Amino acid sequence: MNFLEERIIKDGVVKEGNILKVDSFLNHQLDVELFDEMGAEWAKRFEGVEINKILTIEASGIGIACVAARHFNVPVVFAKKTQSVNLDGEMYTAEVESFTHKNKNHVIVSKKYLNENDKVLIIDDFLANGCALQGLISIINSANATVAGIGIAIEKGFQPGGQIIRNLGYRLESLAIVDGMDPATGKITFRN
Ligand code: G4P
Ligand code: NA
Ligand code: NA
Repeated sequence: MNFLEERIIKDGVVKEGNILKVDSFLNHQLDVELFDEMGAEWAKRFEGVEINKILTIEASGIGIACVAARHFNVPVVFAKKTQSVNLDGEMYTAEVESFTHKNKNHVIVSKKYLNENDKVLIIDDFLANGCALQGLISIINSANATVAGIGIAIEKGFQPGGQIIRNLGYRLESLAIVDGMDPATGKITFRN
């Protein structure tokens, strides 16, 4: 087991409905030392890949992306979630459906902060169905920028997002892939 898998075993809580609660270190209280280790690990895995920007999505992705960015020496842009879209053409937008919250949001990035020269590493906390990720990819494509890679903290391997993204040919580096969770026993299994 790697450092993140060990931490999930130690402090993660399995909830009904296939939800893994990691509020004590990733989603509410933030373990910045752990984020730093995650950043170092992504930097190792993406060594030699040209990256000049990190893109994430509010809210939970921001802290992780900022700490990771110290290992890449690049700026972080976060996509904002909004109900309404202003159509003044200043923004790239994508529609994202949330499986967890059962609603649709628009995510937006200002055209000022993404362009055709950008080689973008996407960072996020969770990958489940991959809707958020597909929204970010679509925004990068709208900007004629390049997806250099995708770094995810926790992938829920039993939901379809990871396979969809890998099948599209993207380089996806998830630091922990959960293949199964049992709310009755709290047991969590990881992919090797
Ligand atoms: P998807 O983008 O992969 O399709 O995600 P989905 O709609 O399934 O999930 C919606 C939100 O719930 C996302 O955060 C996602 O990170 C989070 N999520 C999904 N599964 C889990 C889980 O098992 N545990 C935890 N802790 N979070 C999970 P979000 O709505 O974008 O909100 P934010 O937290 O980033 O603000
Ligand atoms: Na997120
Ligand atoms: Na989240």
